[in-house]
Amino acid sequence: MTGINRLPQIPLGCGGPAIGIQGLGCMGMSEFYGDTDETESLATLELALELGVTMFDTADVYGMGENERFLASFIQANRGRAVIATKFGYARTPERPDNWSLDNRPEFIRQAADNSLQRLGIEVIDLYYMHRRSTDVPLAESIGAMADLVAEGKVRALGLSAVGAQELREAHAVHPIAALQSEWSIFTRDIEAEIVPAAVNLGVTLVPYSPLGRGMLTGQTLAENLSAGDARSYFPRFSAENREANMRLVAKIEGIAAGQGVTSAQVAIAWLYAKAGELGAAVSPIPGTRSHRRLQENVAAASLALDQTAMAELEPLACEVAGIAI
Ligand SMILES: NC(=O)c1ccc[n+]([C@@H]2O[C@H](COP(=O)([O-])OP(=O)(O)OC[C@H]3O[C@@H](n4cnc5c(N)ncnc54)[C@H](OP(=O)(O)O)[C@@H]3O)[C@@H](O)[C@H]2O)c1
Repeated sequence: MTGINRLPQIPLGCGGPAIGIQGLGCMGMSEFYGDTDETESLATLELALELGVTMFDTADVYGMGENERFLASFIQANRGRAVIATKFGYARTPERPDNWSLDNRPEFIRQAADNSLQRLGIEVIDLYYMHRRSTDVPLAESIGAMADLVAEGKVRALGLSAVGAQELREAHAVHPIAALQSEWSIFTRDIEAEIVPAAVNLGVTLVPYSPLGRGMLTGQTLAENLSAGDARSYFPRFSAENREANMRLVAKIEGIAAGQGVTSAQVAIAWLYAKAGELGAAVSPIPGTRSHRRLQENVAAASLALDQTAMAELEPLACEVAGIAI
């Protein structure tokens, strides 16, 4: 087939199931990034497994249940091979699509898990994340409810998304946390100072989301080409006023890519593995793609080494990005 080597596998957290060192972000297959093609998305899922991408990332909020429903038949057909990761935390529903309020109450968590299990058509969620922390509920109470799901056999491993180092430690003291999913890329590096060291110390696997800067780092997702329904039109880094400054930075990535005969997406992914290696962190980034060709490209980047000159050129870019990450 592709000539690409199957990805190496690592344990998820301390003693969790084996996962490929790259996962697949499935969000865009149902919402936020413009038109989707179900046939091509399904082909992407199938190829992912073949290449050793075993962790499939979704959330109940993506498409308000649609993304989980879309993945259901693929996950059911590949139980034992595919690791399904989903998330709870947003109160958004098809009846109230603009309700982005957070809910971390134990009763909400129990209901959300049952809803996700039903939509996915499976008995147990492999990795269940709190999507966002709500300070309205003591963290230990929410983690306690998540731990109950593990005890009941509805969930295998627990994860958190976008929490701080202290929250991660506090949660881990209640129940082992297998994975921390946070934004991490050449352009977004806030987690490196405190959060990555905390995760390393606790044996938590890092799952960098938006490793391609929501497409910006590839040089192919241009603000002026976003369709009307594309959520990125509203994101500061894609705004007209920040466009020029950010495209100058993307050009530097493109220059490195051209010098190595690879793509900018591959440089962005290879940078993450190199940076995680420097920090001693176990990572499984989850680039999102709906294209089997791009999936191949992204997987191939797992064996691409960037030299010190390239790493040094990429080092300052995060401080120069215009617009906050959303
Ligand atoms: N925990 C959280 O709060 C959170 C937040 C955001 C995302 N996530 C998760 O993280 C996953 C990844 O993040 P993301 O999708 O926001 O951003 P991303 O992975 O940084 O970028 C995705 C974008 O890049 C494009 N792309 C992918 N591979 C490419 C390649 N080789 N060349 C050119 N373009 C390429 C995709 O388009 P095509 O699809 O058309 O290929 C898509 O537009 C999501 O799917 C979701 O599961 C989690």
